[in-house]
Amino acid sequence: MKKRLQAVLFAFALTSTSAILHAEGSIDAGKEKAALCFSCHGENGNSVVSTFPKLAQQNTSYLIKQLQAYKNGARKNAMMSAVVTHLSDEDMSDIAAYFSDQEISANQLPLEDDEDDNAKTVKDLISQGIDLYRNGDLPREVSACIACHGPFGEGNKPASFPSIKSQHAEYLIQTLKDFKSGARSNNPENMMHMIAKKMTDEEIKAVSYHISMKK
Ligand code: HEC
Ligand code: HEC
Repeated sequence: MKKRLQAVLFAFALTSTSAILHAEGSIDAGKEKAALCFSCHGENGNSVVSTFPKLAQQNTSYLIKQLQAYKNGARKNAMMSAVVTHLSDEDMSDIAAYFSDQEISANQLPLEDDEDDNAKTVKDLISQGIDLYRNGDLPREVSACIACHGPFGEGNKPASFPSIKSQHAEYLIQTLKDFKSGARSNNPENMMHMIAKKMTDEEIKAVSYHISMKK
């Protein structure tokens, strides 16, 4: 019994080390292979168009997971699924290594909503976002984002929790709404769906504004 357990643990140790080794691709090879991503995500992973997510400084484990999800159809986006069809596991590791090694750029403060007279100011939305990020809203079962995404929004690489700091507000709002509606459904245990479905559109905007200004 004991021997069997040891064997299992040993096998597990081997597979997890090889997974880790595999995850650390080559930055130089990745830069070349990433050329077909630059038009949308920027040469250093800082996209200009705010609906295209920034990839700079993102955890390699999360990047690889998403690329695989686009490839096997678990995450759906027409632009992305076209791009990933020909990427091998090694290409994904190398590309992830390259983008992860780039520095994420800071964002400008979001513009005030002048069209809606009842809209909260950007400053008020950001303070609402700070509160939600740190404390969540436990009676309504909205978990505090800080628990998984960290005090600086840096995520958690071993757990494949994404870094979200300095991400474009527009992309954050879009992807949180996709989690809410279930259009984005490849998240483990459906955890982001469970959180986002409890959030109002105003809360999604508030927390996205805050995250986009986190450095
Ligand atoms: C034609 C534009 C376009 C090209 C080219 C493109 N992407 Fe994307 N990418 C997008 C869009 C749009 C999204 C957001 C899709 C969504 O909401 O699921 C995205 C999302 C992603 C994500 C998910 C990011 C996150 O934070 O969850 C990753 C990773 C990614 N792209 C990597 C790549 C890589 C690597 C390449 C090159 C091999 C590439 N993309 C090429 C448009 C593009
Ligand atoms: C229990 C852990 C957990 C908590 C709490 C949590 N998240 Fe997440 N979040 C995740 C995981 C895991 C993913 C990646 C899902 C996937 O693999 O697609 C994620 C993904 C995201 C993404 C997508 C990032 C990208 O680049 O596409 C955003 C945005 C996000 N979370 C925002 C939030 C906000 C805002 C809160 C608080 C209201 C929050 N999260 C709370 C675990 C968590």
